[in-house]
Amino acid sequence: MSKKQAIGFFDSGSGGLSVLAVVRKRLPGEDFIYLGDSANAPYGTKDDETVRRLVLAAVRQLADRNIKALVVACNTATGAAISALREAYDFPVLGIEPALKTAAETHTAGQILVMATPLTINSKNYRELHSRFGQHAISLPCPGLMEFVEREDLDSPDLHAYLDRLLSPFDREQLDSIVLGCTHYLFLKKALARHLMPGTRLLDSNDGLTRQLIRTLEEKNLMTDGPSEGAVTILCTGNQEKLSHLKRMWALAQDLF
Ligand code: DGL
Repeated sequence: MSKKQAIGFFDSGSGGLSVLAVVRKRLPGEDFIYLGDSANAPYGTKDDETVRRLVLAAVRQLADRNIKALVVACNTATGAAISALREAYDFPVLGIEPALKTAAETHTAGQILVMATPLTINSKNYRELHSRFGQHAISLPCPGLMEFVEREDLDSPDLHAYLDRLLSPFDREQLDSIVLGCTHYLFLKKALARHLMPGTRLLDSNDGLTRQLIRTLEEKNLMTDGPSEGAVTILCTGNQEKLSHLKRMWALAQDLF
């Protein structure tokens, strides 16, 4: 592995771009290659074994481009495949999990709601996380929600009707925080805020992940020393239309995050 190689980023679609935007602001000199497995999204309503197989097949494309580290910018793929990826590759593999620990540690009163895909919520990793930090947390599977982001629908009446249905069982005044346990949902922060009381916090895992990545690169002496701005390459397993979607979402992510 050398400092000059790129860092790979992976998600089932465009959600992980919300993570890449944050990481890149801290590491502007690095080259990044982002791969969205858009041909096979969504992952969150598939089974564990299928997702593991899809992730291993897609990540092979990034490995073939000689990356020096991999960020799995997808909670669902992390839950299903992080151990398999670490076994398969020599480069460091970092994953992302719902920020329930942060939510629990900063909780004062009220409920914590963890929004994630059904597969994340059923994963072993998440069940363990919940048993340690979930005292005040309710897990809320959101099948169908990432698809709004994939359709670039971030504010339609359909989206608001979905969110209304999803959140109607909860007393919004009692909500301390919402953990955004799927990277796609970060693009829906503004829409979600319309359904919440003003003080309700929306938590993601980006700061922790960025710190962990910087620490890993430093420890392994893999941080680039090039003074110039690094390149971002966006790839997709889907068709041209899906690739254009990823590029539009990348432009948006750089403004939003
Ligand atoms: N963006 C992904 C996550 O963080 C998953 C979306 C999906 O493919 O269902 O969980």
